[in-house]
Amino acid sequence: MGHKPVLAAAAIDHLVWDRDGLYIDGTIGCGGHAGLILERLSPSGLLWGFDWDRAMLERVSAVLRDASSRLRLFHAPFSRIGEHLASEGIRAHGILLDLGLNSAALDEPDRGFRYSAPDAPLDMRMDRDRLETAGDLLKGCSEDELARIFAELGEARRPRAAARAIVDARVATPLRTSGDLVRVLQRARAVPGGPAELSRIFQALRLRVNRELEDLDLFLEGVSEWLVPRGRLVVISYESLSDRRVKSLQRPTGEAGGHARFRKLTPHVLRPDRDETLDNPRARSAKLRALERMD
Ligand SMILES: C[S@@+](CC[C@H](N)C(=O)[O-])C[C@H]1O[C@@H](n2cnc3c(N)ncnc32)[C@H](O)[C@@H]1O
Repeated sequence: MGHKPVLAAAAIDHLVWDRDGLYIDGTIGCGGHAGLILERLSPSGLLWGFDWDRAMLERVSAVLRDASSRLRLFHAPFSRIGEHLASEGIRAHGILLDLGLNSAALDEPDRGFRYSAPDAPLDMRMDRDRLETAGDLLKGCSEDELARIFAELGEARRPRAAARAIVDARVATPLRTSGDLVRVLQRARAVPGGPAELSRIFQALRLRVNRELEDLDLFLEGVSEWLVPRGRLVVISYESLSDRRVKSLQRPTGEAGGHARFRKLTPHVLRPDRDETLDNPRARSAKLRALERMD
């Protein structure tokens, strides 16, 4: 996800159709895709990069410093791309989203994204300017609310048992670390199947802490207005909740949730091949959709 850009060739080939245009990487992360977009553009082509994780922007501005005259970085969620375009009175030729978490953030032990780093605080904020952490959620949410988060955002197998275990445990002591959460869930037998089930619980918390699906919904509502006619939208998703939302953009008018402002550029969703998943296991669940805005 971070160091090795996922589905890089397909993403860039579908995104860049006018080498002099303005392109936006809405999830610039470590700048893997961004560097390749800049290489593909002509000297007058421009790239804007968004990320809500300030640490990523600091890193990427160093990595891509040679291109600084053609690159602008924004510390903002991608749902706010439209505001920045409108303030300049322009539209983009293409927008790329490579959703979810950066591998660099995942590997930072103090950020709490991994269930396998037991001493990490339960943080999980991608934008550290926000206040609410995973620990706050686990402390403040009712049992019903937690069960709903685990069911809807993690498709967990025993969401109610997980929620009840947390609510019971926090009466005695607050949950402070990833290890505390894992122990509570395991003791209550709320995570049958072990690692896969823990990943679902952790995914659900991360999606909720960062309100990732809400941001994606706002983005998808606005994006057709942010692109020039024939402008491209390329989205790489790693879980089905996001992918389903992106897919709904390409439905014909009349179908529930259909917008019909986009046509598909590939008949099917694109997946990494075996070599890529062997080389980069985090690419395994990736799905790429490439769409074109209709006139
Ligand atoms: C999978 S990584 C992107 C990796 C990047 N394509 C590369 O090649 O290095 C996703 C990045 O998007 C950011 N991100 C996720 N959701 C976001 C949102 N709604 N708004 C802004 N940034 C977001 C994360 O902080 C993370 O740095």
